Amino acid sequence: MSATVNPLPSFGVEIIGAHGSDLTGRAAAAECQAALDRYGVVIYRDLDITDDDLVALTRALGRPVAARTGEHRLSEIETITLDPAKTAATLASYRRGNFLWHIDGATGHTPQRATLLTAREVDEAGGDTEFADTYLAYDALPDEEKARLEGLQVIHSFAAAQARANPSATEQERQAWDRVPTRTHPLVWTRRNGRRSLLVGATAGEVIGMAPEESRTLLDRLLDWSTRPESVLHHRWRKGDLVIWDNTGMLHRAMPFEPTSRRLMHRTTLAGEELVA
Ligand code: OGA
Ligand code: MN
Repeated sequence: MSATVNPLPSFGVEIIGAHGSDLTGRAAAAECQAALDRYGVVIYRDLDITDDDLVALTRALGRPVAARTGEHRLSEIETITLDPAKTAATLASYRRGNFLWHIDGATGHTPQRATLLTAREVDEAGGDTEFADTYLAYDALPDEEKARLEGLQVIHSFAAAQARANPSATEQERQAWDRVPTRTHPLVWTRRNGRRSLLVGATAGEVIGMAPEESRTLLDRLLDWSTRPESVLHHRWRKGDLVIWDNTGMLHRAMPFEPTSRRLMHRTTLAGEELVA
């Protein structure tokens, strides 16, 4: 593959000149994994990857999550859109949560290891995607703040994110959110390799043992800190781009677009491997 690799200023890398069919072998997957470990976000410009090749790449990288929405021949592929004409109405409504800074699967046992998102249709009027690096956010905290966060545990819930994303939901919708089990994770995630990151975002509901107001203030402050405008990577999509991120250490969000927008993404995810500890 004769591609140009352009590291971006603080994190992330852009790869230009690759084609989807270049990425299905073991060697290409190993290169992709190395880029993911080093840069956090890997942006393949104009890759034009097919669903089959996207799933092949996902499998070569690890254990794909079978989304089983019934919307695709390949059970690993998910449709990312807000338009109920293109996906199940409940999913379309849940995807509004993508407008809030979040980490995929933060209410799960372990968040997804990586997310692969490719643009099938783009919208000039909106729908860029932003990323913020929570390893860098943790590392840049003053030592006394790091000490203060040590040992804190946070309850993550689907309802916390959806209540903000869908404020005018019905009682029935709220009951459905509440049926998704909550999950407690440490606020600071320490990897086996010693790297540490903040586990924050829209699902972070409350810090255990803290008064509600104090807890909200702390979580909001850490999210603001992690997503300071000067440390955000802003991606403007072109049709055919594939963006892969280390979902354990990258907050992300979609920028506003209309529910009826033509914007259409296909996504696969890799199951998490390392428990949050
Ligand atoms: C996702 C997601 C953001 C976007 O698919 O997990 O958050 O810009 N997408 O579509
Ligand atoms: Mn997401």
